[in-house]
Amino acid sequence: MAPDRVIPFTKPLPQPADITPAAAVARLVLTDFRGYARARLTIDAGVVVLTGPNGAGKTNLLEAISFLAPGKGLRRARLSEIDRRGGGVWALAATVANPAGEFDIGTGRDAASESGERRHLRIDGAPAKSQRNLLERLSIAWLTPAMDRLFADAASGRRRFLDRLVTGFDPGHWSRLLAYERAMRERARLLREGVTDPSWLKALEEVMAETGVALAAARLESVAHLAGACAEAPGPFPRVGLAIEGTVEAWLGAMPALAAEEAFRGALHDSRAIDRDSGVTQTGPHRSDLLARHLGTGEVAGLCSTGEQKALLIAIVLAYARLIAARRDAAPVLLLDEVTAHLDAARRSALFQALRALGAQCWLAGTDTALFTELRSHAQFVAVTDAALSLV
Ligand SMILES: Nc1ncnc2c1ncn2[C@@H]1O[C@H](COP(=O)(O)OP(=O)(O)O)[C@@H](O)[C@H]1O
Ligand SMILES: [Mg+2]
Repeated sequence: MAPDRVIPFTKPLPQPADITPAAAVARLVLTDFRGYARARLTIDAGVVVLTGPNGAGKTNLLEAISFLAPGKGLRRARLSEIDRRGGGVWALAATVANPAGEFDIGTGRDAASESGERRHLRIDGAPAKSQRNLLERLSIAWLTPAMDRLFADAASGRRRFLDRLVTGFDPGHWSRLLAYERAMRERARLLREGVTDPSWLKALEEVMAETGVALAAARLESVAHLAGACAEAPGPFPRVGLAIEGTVEAWLGAMPALAAEEAFRGALHDSRAIDRDSGVTQTGPHRSDLLARHLGTGEVAGLCSTGEQKALLIAIVLAYARLIAARRDAAPVLLLDEVTAHLDAARRSALFQALRALGAQCWLAGTDTALFTELRSHAQFVAVTDAALSLV
């Protein structure tokens, strides 16, 4: 096994005055995580800049941090794919500091689970009973190069992006999403297998109607908050118009929640044959879409240039971070992979200033150290080379 690579915290990082307290990863230990046999990083709140050549392990490190949030991480990889080739089962441990104190998170692939594709999760050494416990204490948002086409590609990516943001506002959203998807999968299986037990189908449709309407309501509320913040955002990032398009969301706009549940239940009941024959559940929040528009040009986001689309995404994430900082008394952790690549010098500089003003712990990764020069005296620079970390 490679020796531990310890990066001690050396000097206090200068922070702008009057910042909102942030949730911050204070310590991170990776074991058999992709290229990393074992790596340790001790870091203070502030901006962390990861630099190194292609393939060095920058995105892998951000991916590890993304597993401090529920779900499949920022690459949505199979968990077994992450085990270091020729090594053991991956795990990671972290100490997170937030305004309420410090807590430890341990997670990794549970190789003993039936599929081998589940994650175990411990908080302060004890198995976490629900992910909500974690979500209430830490929110994480990320932007990766894979999201450059978020607005141009399929709606599923935008829904995932949106649902993560909604979870920041409403930690219960995540478990409702899982419950909805479980019931939908189970209903599809019954229909496919020709199981016609009406009470079983009815019970599943009941769960879908209840959780589905709650999901749609949470999305509507969050999008309204975000749209407000995105429309009035200062600085050189574009103002973004946001809206959500979906049948259940539209019902909620036109009738009380109980009536929307009733309408959704009815639609599910009536579309059993179609859903069975098409293999697609026709109606529900799993088909909704997040619509975005560049308010400066009036163009829909999917038709803006790649650089503009990136700027729109950054604007949304900055607005989200500001709102979370205000609502939850702690800014979220931001993972920004290769975001500087598409930005001109003015926007790059504005982004750095916005991040510092936000006070969020922000992890920036890029190949070109020169792009981060401006952050020299404000950030902790970490060089990543062949899955080894060193302070620079
Ligand atoms: N399971 C794994 N075991 C060992 N190495 C891996 C594994 N998964 C990915 N890698 C290696 O990680 C490297 C990519 O790291 P990445 O973090 O994406 O680089 P970058 O610094 O460019 O962001 C590749 O060289 C790849 O071979
Ligand atoms: Mg990368």
